[in-house]
Amino acid sequence: MGRVAGKVAIITGGASGLGLASACRLAEEGATVVIADISLEQGQAVVGEIAGARFEHLDVTQEANWIGLIDKVVAEFGRLDILLNCAGIVRLASIEDTSEAMWREINAVGTDGTFFGCKHALRVMKVVGAGSIINMCSTASIQGGPMIFAYAASKSAIRGMTKSVAVLSAQSGYGVRCNSIHPGNMRTPMLEGMKEIVMENDPEAAAAMDNIWVGEPVDVANLVLFLASDESVAVNGAAMVVDNTTTITEGVVPH
Ligand SMILES: NC(=O)c1ccc[n+]([C@@H]2O[C@H](COP(=O)([O-])OP(=O)(O)OC[C@H]3O[C@@H](n4cnc5c(N)ncnc54)[C@H](O)[C@@H]3O)[C@@H](O)[C@H]2O)c1
Repeated sequence: MGRVAGKVAIITGGASGLGLASACRLAEEGATVVIADISLEQGQAVVGEIAGARFEHLDVTQEANWIGLIDKVVAEFGRLDILLNCAGIVRLASIEDTSEAMWREINAVGTDGTFFGCKHALRVMKVVGAGSIINMCSTASIQGGPMIFAYAASKSAIRGMTKSVAVLSAQSGYGVRCNSIHPGNMRTPMLEGMKEIVMENDPEAAAAMDNIWVGEPVDVANLVLFLASDESVAVNGAAMVVDNTTTITEGVVPH
């Protein structure tokens, strides 16, 4: 109990899946949690179940929205200790079928959203000389994947941004840490949605998905908690995998 007591956290994509599990875990350990999500309905539905949490409407693709949110949180709570950039969308398409619109849609949420979040969190965190930014990446940034072209590209950009922010902060003495988390398949609405699409288009591939390891959102939330807390004070610029070895073993290809 109390591993992040007194800290203030913003969690984008906090209305669902990994963001929601992380919001619950941080609140259980004493943080004041601001759930920031584009879904008003879902955000308002979950916020009441989390002690002391508040919901703020945020479209991560708009820098002006970010400036408004971060400044509002600092004005109200006097600080921002933790930012979890967790909002994300996925579309299934190879490079051959990725349209310009799909590319921009995925990168707007993942790449642009994380850029704006890191930029404005760093701006306020460096003033007090402390803070933890956590970027939700994916094993897709390590392995790629034939049918997740734009998503893997966006996650790879986030992985690079994370290290650049961490190094800038360390070399400038900002006191802000920035790390990325790379989950494998986790049981969330996003994964369910992907499975439904695969089922419609390729039932054999969907059946094969049943044999792949799937983790629980709390498995990721526990790592978020560690990175958010002062226990991880020496962890900066790290890319931390939560996949029970699947990044290694899925490298096996048929003859
Ligand atoms: N579930 C997995 O298997 C898995 C694996 C690796 C990485 N991830 C990553 O974890 C993160 C969370 O995924 P999830 O599985 O919990 O998905 P999810 O679909 O359950 O939740 C995503 C949340 O992001 C919000 N969101 C979408 N666009 C937004 C925007 N423009 N502004 C603000 N909020 C927005 C949605 O409303 C939703 O609440 C994503 O970045 C995803 O890429 C998920």
